Amino acid sequence: MEVIIKANPELASQLAAQIIAHTIEKKPNTVLGLATGATPLSLYQELINLHKNNGLDFSRVHTFNLDEYVGVAPNHPASYHFFMEKNLFSNVNIPNTQRHIPDGMACNIPQHCIDYENRIRQVGGIDIQILGIGSDGHIGFNEPSSSLASRTRIKTLAGATLEDNKKYFHDLQTPPRHAITMGIGTIMEAKDILLLAFGSKKAQIVSEMVEGPISAMVPASVLQMHPSAKIILDEESAALLKRRDYYNDVYRHKPAWQKFE
Ligand code: GLP
Repeated sequence: MEVIIKANPELASQLAAQIIAHTIEKKPNTVLGLATGATPLSLYQELINLHKNNGLDFSRVHTFNLDEYVGVAPNHPASYHFFMEKNLFSNVNIPNTQRHIPDGMACNIPQHCIDYENRIRQVGGIDIQILGIGSDGHIGFNEPSSSLASRTRIKTLAGATLEDNKKYFHDLQTPPRHAITMGIGTIMEAKDILLLAFGSKKAQIVSEMVEGPISAMVPASVLQMHPSAKIILDEESAALLKRRDYYNDVYRHKPAWQKFE
């Protein structure tokens, strides 16, 4: 686990975008795992800028989103289909057929989940998985107590997540209680992982993820077992880390060939 602390979310997002751009330049058919939420918004904007101003080409890139709400139509503004269209897909050149998001309207959800996993395998697995972190430590929608070996499946949203999401679904009589999410085992198979977390509200859970025990009660802590996970933070989300001086030292003394800036 490599912990990188930048001065602010903008610089952190720029670094993540550089890492992704570098990978796409080396491997034009990169398979990206995508996340939603407020955290990756500035990263997506950076990728759009690199596409528009520097010619970063997404035409051979494949994408797989982590999750989607069950029973929420793709044209609902709170669906992750809508989010991705608005914040990334409409502004870069990833062909439609190469974008994948779990279908929250699928009639046969278990079969859909098996098919989703198969599609990831068919394109050779995820090269870089982008992640945010929920305030309870969830990744994707793998809520605390999720199996650390889980695969893509339906999950019931936790009370805290329902509360966080309420604001997006004020027009629906019954806000979604379920989501389809890649499993923790699925996420752990990505070759590289970039987890971003910003702001003081994430400081406590970031310290549990990085410096606490590995536990299903903090699903993101499983990333301690991943061979190539970068945790990219701003000063605020890193504030409670005990070894932050060490993480800064490691980053400062990295050999030039390992850097992306
Ligand atoms: C949702 C998503 C997660 C995301 C989390 C945090 O639960 N399913 O993938 O990481 O929200 O969102 P935010 O980045 O807005 O804090």
